[in-house]
Amino acid sequence: MGAAGIIGTGSYLPEEVVTNEDLTQIVDTSDAWIRERTGIRERRRASALQATSDLCLEAARQALDDAGVRAAELDLIIVATVTPDMAFPATGCLVQDRLGARKAWAFDLEAGCSGFLYGLVLGGQLIGGGFARYVLLIGAETFSRIVNWSDRNTCVLFGDGAGAVVLGPVPEGYGILAAKMAADGSGGKWLFQPAGGSRLPASEATVQQRLHTIHMQGREVFRFAVRYMEEVSLASLQQCGLAPADIDLFVPHQANLRIIDAARRRLGLPEEKVAINLDRYGNMSSASIPVALDEASRTGQLKAGDRVLLAAFGAGFTWGAAVVRWSKDAGRTGARL
Ligand code: ACO
Repeated sequence: MGAAGIIGTGSYLPEEVVTNEDLTQIVDTSDAWIRERTGIRERRRASALQATSDLCLEAARQALDDAGVRAAELDLIIVATVTPDMAFPATGCLVQDRLGARKAWAFDLEAGCSGFLYGLVLGGQLIGGGFARYVLLIGAETFSRIVNWSDRNTCVLFGDGAGAVVLGPVPEGYGILAAKMAADGSGGKWLFQPAGGSRLPASEATVQQRLHTIHMQGREVFRFAVRYMEEVSLASLQQCGLAPADIDLFVPHQANLRIIDAARRRLGLPEEKVAINLDRYGNMSSASIPVALDEASRTGQLKAGDRVLLAAFGAGFTWGAAVVRWSKDAGRTGARL
């Protein structure tokens, strides 16, 4: 297996900012409650004209430019999302067409907030195995479309955005060093969108009962998220013979600052080694990690050779962690495919 890693990053956040104060106008909440219980100050909302693929496209173009890879060179496009433009065709195919990535096969990956990490492992393996040279992996969500804006338990938490990376062959010792992914479908009942699929197709009743929106038991999700993010992080570090102290940056999924803090403390990491964007963007599910990586890369917080721990937990339940040695600007290896 050849080494595979991230060689370019990009992100797109819609222009409209929705502050906590704005939300106090529509549900019984307060800026203080939201900040203290979640760490979120504001989030972005896509315009009425923007669908998930529009967000993807902006982030993808940046990532391709950053990697110095042309759309025509892509072998595969994966869009990790729970809010696709429509049930089918896949948002990945819509992006493939609009980018003009004629050579690429394309599909969507639905693994809740862990979608980006699931895609990272898949894309990395395909490159390592010689089935692809360049893979575009995008995490993108338009949660504003499936949030129940009259439910204060959930509507304050989520935001819209997209993050993209280009994966490619990198020198040995760089890129994805280890990864551990997991799922437990018995947790599906704690976090789901009941209607709109084959179980409960759209009807007047499902719309009236708001069954096309997010339903979540926050306390249950919280409990599992803290425990599993720590477990899986330690397992992936162990896989590549590293300890938490060897990590330069921890990039966790951004659902709640208290979850992140608990995981960070359990891993014994100092605050300055943790990437945070939840305060500005809320929970963007599969977009949270790639947006954080793009920001860390562009601000110089991430440098070639840095060891990065990525960890996520989300609907499914799904969870996972990966250790990567930052490979952007570390050079490329010989051609594949
Ligand atoms: N404003 C004011 N009060 C509120 C609000 C709000 N926005 N939301 C809830 N409350 C109230 C509740 O009604 C409750 O009141 P009660 O005690 O009178 O019933 C009280 O605050 C406490 O509610 P809890 O649910 O216990 O609050 P908690 O501290 O657990 O925080 C939260 C809730 C933020 C949802 C937290 O549980 C959490 O972050 N859970 C994890 C979410 C997550 O990780 N999701 C993962 C992925 S998403 C995906 O995969 C798509």
